[in-house]
Amino acid sequence: MKTIIFYRSSYRGNTLKIAESMKDALSAELVSIDSNPSIDLSDYDLIGFGSAINFAAHDIRLQRFVSLQNLKGKNVFIFSTRCRPFLGAYHKPLKKVIEGKDGIITGEFSCRGFDRTGPWVLMDGYNKARPNERDRFKARLFAEKLRWKLHPLALAHKNPVAGYSDGIPIRRKGSDTVAGGKVVFLNTSTCINCEKCIKVCPMHIFARRDTVLPTDEKNCIQCRLCADNCPTSSIYIRESFLNGLRIALRESFSDKLQSSYNAENEKNEH
Ligand SMILES: Cc1cc2nc3c(=O)[nH]c(=O)nc-3n(C[C@H](O)[C@H](O)[C@H](O)COP(=O)(O)O)c2cc1C
Repeated sequence: MKTIIFYRSSYRGNTLKIAESMKDALSAELVSIDSNPSIDLSDYDLIGFGSAINFAAHDIRLQRFVSLQNLKGKNVFIFSTRCRPFLGAYHKPLKKVIEGKDGIITGEFSCRGFDRTGPWVLMDGYNKARPNERDRFKARLFAEKLRWKLHPLALAHKNPVAGYSDGIPIRRKGSDTVAGGKVVFLNTSTCINCEKCIKVCPMHIFARRDTVLPTDEKNCIQCRLCADNCPTSSIYIRESFLNGLRIALRESFSDKLQSSYNAENEKNEH
């Protein structure tokens, strides 16, 4: 997913810390609007805009910058750092600008940032050391969830089962064919059968039949090594707490997962 993040962080670099965390999670390009960038956004799947909250809204220069971009039909997320403990309506003005440009707001994030202006001089600043490691962790989590939410197979489980291949449900998604039951989904139309997923999956979810297929999804532990290593982004893991719980219970009450995992280790050792 091609992603770009524009930011302005003029006071203490607070927003930049958050932007950097998001950049890492999304493998995004990070661009300061102070460099007056002129970038054609038509190629990007996701665009982020963030700044400090200055006088109850995003930085006015960021708002102006956004108002000059072509955002029609684009997935956009916005973020901010602020002094006040709660966000309130601070994001409203920027959201209005984006909606006016027909952009689609897919997520919002805000956290506290150090401020030593106005009355806060009395206590030598408020929100000391913010954003901190926890704020950055939350920013990464937000970005990670966004990436997953926008994955082309995110809603594949909702498409009806059109048939079976080797006992695995097959669904149609537009012109694509997607193999998968409830947890692991593979777009067999875009898969290039490189077998990386077979090599990296510690639980042997994938196997080569005529083509690569997710043949044993019940063992999936949601490690996402397959999806992260897929060169064509053809794999989607439908992560959920319940899937996690299911696998934790199996792990506690059965030795099948251990045997399945050991089998591969032994194979690799020989
Ligand atoms: C000129 C100015 C105006 C500000 N206005 C607000 C405000 O209205 N509400 C708020 O919660 N914080 C306000 N703040 C605090 C900043 O939003 C906060 O310190 C932010 O983390 C700064 O981010 P930056 O270092 O990326 O510029 C203001 C700070 C400055 C310098």
